Amino acid sequence: MEHVKTIESLGKLVKAMRQQGKTIGFVPTMGAFHKGHMSLIETAVNQSDFVVVSIFVNPTQFAPGEDYEKYPRTIDADLKLCSDVGVDIVFTPSAEQMYPTENLTWVNVEKITAPLCGQFRPGHFQGVTTVCAKLFNIVLPDIAYFGQKDAQQAIIIKKMVSDLNIPLEIVVCPTIREDDGLALSSRNHYLDASQRQDAALIYKSLQTCRKEIENGTKEPETIIEKIRYTLQQAASIQIEYVSILDAESLNDLDNINGRVLVAVAVKIGQTRLIDNIIVDASEY
Ligand code: PAJ
Repeated sequence: MEHVKTIESLGKLVKAMRQQGKTIGFVPTMGAFHKGHMSLIETAVNQSDFVVVSIFVNPTQFAPGEDYEKYPRTIDADLKLCSDVGVDIVFTPSAEQMYPTENLTWVNVEKITAPLCGQFRPGHFQGVTTVCAKLFNIVLPDIAYFGQKDAQQAIIIKKMVSDLNIPLEIVVCPTIREDDGLALSSRNHYLDASQRQDAALIYKSLQTCRKEIENGTKEPETIIEKIRYTLQQAASIQIEYVSILDAESLNDLDNINGRVLVAVAVKIGQTRLIDNIIVDASEY
């Protein structure tokens, strides 16, 4: 495995692979790997001839006051994990490599960036789409892998790739969870023991919602109230949003029909956690 830090050396290695006719799989990350990241990376290793993983804590997707500085950085452990599963290149550019001069060009996806996390993290998705567009241009992959855990991010990236005709397939991999259902996240490490226990209510609330939809409940508000009720069982949980939206367009729904995205964001202490499920309501 090669560990490269510059765009130039990455370009040379990837070009050589491409000339050999190899398909290039790419997993963009911010590091601090857990089993969620590793499932994306292992899928890429299984599906592509040559795999590039980037680790870059992207400053432009953090608002002032968010956790950019304290975001966990575990580069040595991350490199070992990548090497163990057969990654070919780990790319760890510095902020100066990625943003050598003041950045004046931004990729903005409209409309679908407005609901859910868009309401609470202004500028976040602009930072994500811009850095992903840059990384796609640097790596020139055939396939890029994203997690369902960040459902809105995956939908936005797919739309950007389609709207800008970026010659790339986006594969979305399932959310990996702890035994009690909590979605794995680098931010789970910020939780103390009692907050960690409370965090299990997030997935529990989504399961309650799945049952409601399976039982034929059609009014989004009824289900949203049940989710809120479950989350409110823990005093430490402050709800940011509970939303049920069309899983493709992210439009509001009058009635629960077709594939719906049920998405939750909460704060436990200072830690912001998100989770979601997709339910196909047309079956019920
Ligand atoms: P990061 O939070 O490091 O996540 C990297 C990828 O891992 C994302 O596609 C995310 O959805 C996926 N992932 C995280 N937790 C997961 C879980 N429990 N199960 C499955 N997949 C999971 O998302 C980002 O970085 C950044 O925004 C990035 C796309 C790299 C742009 O900077």
